[in-house]
This record gives sequence, structure tokens and C-alpha cells, in this order.
Amino acid sequence: MTDLIIIGAGPGGYKAALHAAKLGLKVTVFEAGHVGGTCLNVGCIPTKTYVHASSFAEAVERQPLVVEQLRSGVETLLSHPNITLVRERAAFVDNHTVCSESGEMFTADNVIIATGSSAKLLPIPGADRAVTSTELLQLKDLPRRLCIIGAGVIGMEFASVFQRFGSEVTVIEYLKECLPMVDSDIAKRLRKQLEKKGITFHMNAGVKAINTLSDAPAEPSSSSSEPSASPAEPSSSPAEPSASAEGPFSVLFSQKGKELSVEADVVLMATGRKPNTEGLNIEAVGITLAPNGTIPVDEHFQLPLPHETAHGAASIFAIGDVNGRQMLAHAAEMQGIHVVNSILGIQDQIRFDVMPAAIFTEPEAACVGPSEDQLKEAGTPYECHKAFYRSNGKALAMGETEGMVKLCCEPGDGRLLSAHIFGAHAADLVQEVTGFITLGASLKQLRDTIHIHPTLSEVLIEVN
Ligand code: NAI
Repeated sequence: MTDLIIIGAGPGGYKAALHAAKLGLKVTVFEAGHVGGTCLNVGCIPTKTYVHASSFAEAVERQPLVVEQLRSGVETLLSHPNITLVRERAAFVDNHTVCSESGEMFTADNVIIATGSSAKLLPIPGADRAVTSTELLQLKDLPRRLCIIGAGVIGMEFASVFQRFGSEVTVIEYLKECLPMVDSDIAKRLRKQLEKKGITFHMNAGVKAINTLSDAPAEPSSSSSEPSASPAEPSSSPAEPSASAEGPFSVLFSQKGKELSVEADVVLMATGRKPNTEGLNIEAVGITLAPNGTIPVDEHFQLPLPHETAHGAASIFAIGDVNGRQMLAHAAEMQGIHVVNSILGIQDQIRFDVMPAAIFTEPEAACVGPSEDQLKEAGTPYECHKAFYRSNGKALAMGETEGMVKLCCEPGDGRLLSAHIFGAHAADLVQEVTGFITLGASLKQLRDTIHIHPTLSEVLIEVN
């Protein structure tokens, strides 16, 4: 018997374990893979190593070193005397028991499911010819032509960094604008900026199939990038060896009623992620997954166990990507901390409605709170204030003049509602506004706050 079982040692699971252990709970953590989860091993951390590397070769060399160093740090933290790490998968047996793969039974008063998510592949012919972000980070050779399906967070981050490394990058996106959760004005400016750098975007375009060039249709299609090249033949410039054994590929898509294609040596599928619930046997606690595959939870991330199952059951929680609320590492971490606090009856003031997010393109984009489009749609009274990096002294000195800040507040310089920013260090600027929004402060209070000169953060008080 242990106080708390945690299934999954990603940022949600391991942070919850450490918080609980420090507060005196006995914790058993199950992790079949590497500690640190997607974020540390194949997500946030390796991609940021790429963003800050000066070349693809440097990124490939540094990435495993950075990951290994962080991973061993997490292992050390998890060696806390109150934590037992079981390096196996776990599945529910009943409402207070889980079983390890090797058949050992564990019971607890509380269970946290923190199993994360995996890349979702489109159900199209040839989908298995695409790589996911995990495999893209394992490439040892830079693809000459990279086609990215999906202009969400993952698609945009990889488009930006691979273009800088020297790949010819094409992005195909189903919607009319990239980054659906970012203010459309900001998203458009960012896309235009990346277009200027040489990335080709096909918007309002749905991908239909991924063929190898040998099985592409013989008749010439209107190839959008190289109209003269027939997909059945190699394009005018010979393909250099690509990391994929099967490439080059032809990605077929339809746009405004036309069938088009793009040739690529590697195709990245970045069309969303799906919760990891396979093998958990969640049905054993009487819970049915939501239609999108997520585990349903209440506002404290607790599973609403049916009355007949709840009797004598452990309190069961689901945090992070698996509950589908906000697929962000920092959301998972804070959800885990909140769950441990609730288990121990500790009141906290975490504002899950104020969730900042950043996209580490070059330049960055970041946001907190509703976009202007969402405020309009909801009929919320608001004012919108803008400022541009080009009139900020530090931005000029840095040569980072492309950027814009959009702050929305209640009328009359009132309570701050949101910030949507693109430009250098957008994430840091949004973080500052997040503090103000969390404390319920107004734009006037932000304007009245002294900002160090010269800094990019002055752009926040330079809004019109
Ligand atoms: P996403 O949901 O952000 O974007 C997927 C995009 O693919 C959408 O724009 C969608 O319209 C498009 N799409 C879907 N089907 C398509 C088709 N047939 N043809 C063309 N386009 C199509 O998903 P993404 O980028 O895979 O990221 C997954 C999750 O991971 C997100 O929740 C994201 O927030 C999170 N994440 C966060 C990061 C960060 O905070 N910096 C970094 C990486 C991931």
C-alpha cells in the first residue's frame, strides 16, 4: 500500500511525484520508457537544442548530450526516499489496484494517470511514409526537401528551424491560417515573415496521399513547386541522399478544387496528438473515454467515477496531455501540483484559465488569454492596443525589428485580458503579462510599472 501511484514520469508525473514526496507522501511511479516523457526526450528540450544550434550537424551532436544530462538530473531527483520508481507499464485491475507488466499488484488511496500523448497520423494512403516529430529528431542527414503537413505548433517550429539549417521547406495546412490558437493577425504576420525567409505555405489545403515517386500517377500533375516536373520522374535537380530509405515522395493535396503535389525527401506529419490510454484498462474503474480519446476529468482533474464504482475506490486523477485540456508541458506540471495539493487539502491559487503558450519559431510567437477573434466572437467588451518592435530601441539595437504586440483589456485601459505577440523573446514578454493577468491587474497598472531601459519589455508599455 502506498499513498499515491503515478502512471507516467513525464513533466506532469515526475513533478507531481517530487511535490508529493517533499510533502511526505509515499509515491510509486511507473515509467516504462525514459523519465522526462515527450517533453524532455523527444519534444520541448531537443527541439529547443535545434532552435539554438548554429547548424544541423551541431544540433544532431548536442541534442543527445543535453537530453542525457537533463534525464540523469530527473533520475537523481526521483531517487528521493519517498519515491519508488517501477520501470514497467501499469494497468488498472480495479478501482484501487494497478498491476505492473510483470504481474505485481499495487494499491493506493490516490492514483494519477499522466501517460501523455503520441503523434496522430492522418488516415490517408501512404501515411506510414511520413515521419513524426520524434523520428525527425533522429535524422542524421539534413533532408534537402522537407514537406510538413500541418501548420500547428510542431509544424511551424520545425519549418522555421529546418529552413534555417538549409532544407527547402513546404508546409501544407488545412485551415486558412497557421497556429489556430494564436490571434489570426499575429499568426498571419508570423507566416508572412517565414515566407520571406523562403518557406512555402499552401493554406486551405488538405493532404490526400503520400506516394513514393515511383507509384505516383504517371500523368503530369500541376506540381505547385516545380510545374514542369512530372511526379513520375525525378525533378530537375537530383535528389541528394535523404534520411528516409523510401523517398523521395510526392505529397498530394487538394486546394481550391485543384489537385496539386509537392515533392519531398522527408515528410513530417504534424497534425495533432492523441492521448495515450492504450493498455491502461481504464474501463476497469468504470470510465468511458471521451469521443476524442481523452480521459474525462472535473475541474480538479479527478475522474468522475460512477456511483457504483466509486465506493471504496481510490481517488483517480488524469493530468497533462491525456486529459486533453491543454497539451503543454507546463500545464501538465501545474495540474499535477494542483492534484497533490488537493489530495493533501492544501489550497492553491493556480489559475488554469490563464495559460501562456509559446511557439519557438524565429521569431517567436506567444500568447496568453483569448485572441481578439475569440473576444469578438464571445461578444466580450474589449479594447485592443498594439505596439511594434521597430519603434523599440532595444529591438533596433538587436536588429530584431520584426514584431508586434497586441494587448486586449477591458474598456478604459481596464483589466488585462490577453497578450498575443510575435517577435524576438515573445515568450518572455508574454510571461510578464501573464503575471499581471493572473493578479487581475489592469493595462493602466502595467503602464504604471517601471520597465528597465533599454529592454524589449518596454514595447509592452509603448502600446497605443
Ligand atoms: P496542432 O493541433 O497544433 O496543429 C495541427 C495542424 O494540422 C492544424 O493546424 C490542423 O488544421 C492541421 N491539419 C490537420 N489535418 C490536416 C490535413 N489533412 N492537411 C493539412 N493540415 C492538416 O498539432 P501539433 O502541431 O501536431 O501539436 C500537437 C500538440 O503538441 C499541440 O497541442 C501543441 O500545443 C503541443 N505542442 C506544444 C509546443 C509548445 O508549446 N511550444 C511544441 C510542440 C507541441
